[in-house]
Amino acid sequence: MPTDLARLMLDPSLLPPEKRTLLSRVADQSAALGFPCYLVGGFVRDLLLHQPVNDLDVIVEGDAIRLGRALLQQYGGKLTPHAPFHTAIWHLPDSDETLDLITARSEAYEFPGALPSVTPSTIADDLRRRDFTINAMAVRVDGPHFGELLDPLDGQVDLQRGLIRALHPRSFVDDPTRILRAIRYEGRYRFQIEPATLKWIDAESLGVLSSLSGERLRHELDLILAEENAAAMLLCTESLGVLHAIHPALPRFDSTRANLLGQLPSADLNLPCERVTLGYLVWLLDVPAEDLTVLCRRLDFTSELSETLVGASRLKAQLPALTNSRPSVWTFALEKFPPLSVFVVSLVTREPALTTFLATWRNVKPHTDGETLKSLSLPPGPRYKEILSRLRAAWLDGEVKDEAEEKKLLEFLAK
Ligand code: CTP
Repeated sequence: MPTDLARLMLDPSLLPPEKRTLLSRVADQSAALGFPCYLVGGFVRDLLLHQPVNDLDVIVEGDAIRLGRALLQQYGGKLTPHAPFHTAIWHLPDSDETLDLITARSEAYEFPGALPSVTPSTIADDLRRRDFTINAMAVRVDGPHFGELLDPLDGQVDLQRGLIRALHPRSFVDDPTRILRAIRYEGRYRFQIEPATLKWIDAESLGVLSSLSGERLRHELDLILAEENAAAMLLCTESLGVLHAIHPALPRFDSTRANLLGQLPSADLNLPCERVTLGYLVWLLDVPAEDLTVLCRRLDFTSELSETLVGASRLKAQLPALTNSRPSVWTFALEKFPPLSVFVVSLVTREPALTTFLATWRNVKPHTDGETLKSLSLPPGPRYKEILSRLRAAWLDGEVKDEAEEKKLLEFLAK
């Protein structure tokens, strides 16, 4: 009798056929070695929710490195073993994709917030080390066991009830990134954090969160900003005291900006920007300049993101002085900022000049260039720049409308 999970794993709308093939290969090799083989975490959670899955989280009760070698011998590719953790990364043949192969393990945290030390163990122990019951289920896939659900912590019940439940009171102290993970799952599935779990997000676990590196915190915030429901999640981080714990200057997300999070620049603007980047810009635009640099450092932002953010904040402050200016004044002022800074300020303020700058003005150039000026026997020097700027301003402000008018103005300027 195929189980529910067996049926779900065979459904191509939930598990793409190429992943299904990969899964069979891993399961068969594992069975041949006599290692019970499981898929865990989000794979089981999302299948049970009838949602498509892509990531295969493979755990074996045995030696994941030996499994990796068997797969390598049979199918090719490359293997990167990591002996201290008993794990291996299989680089699939003829593809850029990789598959993590993990030995079932138990974990111990030397101090709160530390990365854990690991010891090979059983699948039951491996499930106990995890964050939430809904992520602590496994489905066995080797041989006749294909499709058997392991759910010792009643994850399926919580999944049906819509609850995010941590496994023990120290879970957030051991690993406070789980606080942000809880908020993310709550917002993604419209679940609730179970009341006892909510209480464990307390001064102690938030204190450990404060001590985490910028890189680890930013990674979790990136994951939140990549989500459809990011605005609600950010609001929740504020109400649980998470933002203050990360840094007191981190502001509450302005919920009136929620609909801006997905408004990426249209392709014709030629402004590459990812949802996560736009999210930070919309969220942090109003932070006072002196706090902004501190936050950029705390969250280990790239220099590009930091510069865009600082630029957007400065531009927003300068906007009143530019209102009702001529197009050339706008253009020469806006060109000093990263285009993405201009874009985010245009989203937030709806100032039409910013949109016109991005779509049109910044691309307006005169026909005349340095070569033309040389051919007029003008000696190169600062005058070149003056003349070219003046011609550009004339186009922008509608003083010249065609090449002949530009030529006339050039003759006048070059006298
Ligand atoms: N995990 C954990 N504690 C963490 C991170 C991960 O216990 N701080 C465990 C969970 O069991 C999780 C699994 O590792 O399900 C895989 O982690 P990850 O890939 O981050 O999450 P997914 O479950 O795949 O979910 P998603 O990527 O959709 O958030």
